[in-house]
Amino acid sequence: MAWLASARWPLLATAFVLASVVAAGRLGPWEGLLAFAVVLLATAVAPRASAPAPREVGGGVKALREELSAILSGLPDPVLVLDRRGFVTVFNERARAALGEIRIGEPVSFALRAPEVLEAVRAASSAPQTVLYVERAPVERWREAHVAQTRLSPGAGVLTVVALRDLTEQRRSERMRGDFVANASHELRTPLASLLGFIETLQGPAKNDVAAREKFLEIMRAQANRMSRLIDDLLSLSRIELKAHVKPRSVVDLAELVRGVADSLQPLARERGVEIALTLAQASVRGDRDELIRVAENLIENAVKYGQSGGRVDVGVDLGAEGARLVVRDYGPGVAPEHLPRLTERFYRVDVGDSRDKGGTGLGLALVKHILQRHGGRLTIESAAGDGATFTALLEPADAPANVGQDLKRAS
Ligand SMILES: Nc1ncnc2c1ncn2[C@@H]1O[C@H](COP(=O)(O)OP(=O)(O)O)[C@@H](O)[C@H]1O
Ligand SMILES: [Mg+2]
Repeated sequence: MAWLASARWPLLATAFVLASVVAAGRLGPWEGLLAFAVVLLATAVAPRASAPAPREVGGGVKALREELSAILSGLPDPVLVLDRRGFVTVFNERARAALGEIRIGEPVSFALRAPEVLEAVRAASSAPQTVLYVERAPVERWREAHVAQTRLSPGAGVLTVVALRDLTEQRRSERMRGDFVANASHELRTPLASLLGFIETLQGPAKNDVAAREKFLEIMRAQANRMSRLIDDLLSLSRIELKAHVKPRSVVDLAELVRGVADSLQPLARERGVEIALTLAQASVRGDRDELIRVAENLIENAVKYGQSGGRVDVGVDLGAEGARLVVRDYGPGVAPEHLPRLTERFYRVDVGDSRDKGGTGLGLALVKHILQRHGGRLTIESAAGDGATFTALLEPADAPANVGQDLKRAS
């Protein structure tokens, strides 16, 4: 009889009006009573004004919602459950984290605005739906929504389950892989096109020109060397990626290794009028010797080539509180701040033409970064335009307690 309680005020008002009309003599007492009975009956059979949404699910709504909520909280992806009318009944913490404000009892369109998803919710009554959509704000996010209808038991109301999957990272790495292949092909095609051009010239117009042949063969050798360097760097990168999670354990004398690399780069430095000044303190690190040689080689060679105008490169090895450090400082033009965060990306160069002229592949610093990461270390770059650049490789000392490497990783 809850309906009687909720309708008591309109019924009392009706009774009062009818009683006044009867008292005024406009209606007989029996007619008055009959009119009241009709109003009472109409109130009893009329459909109740819209019940709160969760009633749809059944009696123990709260308990049911708590059970569903507990199940959904264990899932790794955002999930929302909607009632028959598309109002949110249950959602998990992941959904709140992904979509922001969501309220029980509100239409799903308040939480999910993508038209593709709302269309999928409508279409799910005939078959489960999967749609890919993109959120543009506040940052671009790619998601896949799976929408399916279900019933908790044969007689129960229909529920719509909306499960979301974040594909942003996957798409980003696919795009990066695509860019990488395109870049690598382009880098190989340029010297290859030049080689083919010279071969044609040597077979045709310059067939009997001895002087031209000598000159062209020299250029062809340089181009072939460039292709070979590129392939070596690509292979090194992929080898290091394969071993990314295996930490090298052998002990390497960093000072001695750096001295060897600096010696091997002396001819290049002399050719460019650069003095390499060494300040080497004793420091042993855990690492892979060949890979650490690549690190020192790349950093010192870059400093000599790009910092040539400074005429001097300082190379230091020391053992500090943070770990073992290899510091390479040049006094050349440095790197403008907008380029700094991207320098370790594959094929990223401040000036592509300049790098190519100097025999660069654009992969050196990417290699350095990957090698250091595999060693539990990291690379930092400091530079003020016009005032040279300082590249610091931080490594785990050989006698470090086990947690030092973790600290380095966390800080990077
Ligand atoms: N010491 C430096 N001073 C100025 N610019 C540098 C220095 N080291 C690296 N760079 C810039 O970073 C880019 C990427 O370096 P790297 O990955 O070694 O590729 P590469 O030397 O083959 O071009 C270089 O092309 C250059 O523009
Ligand atoms: Mg380089």
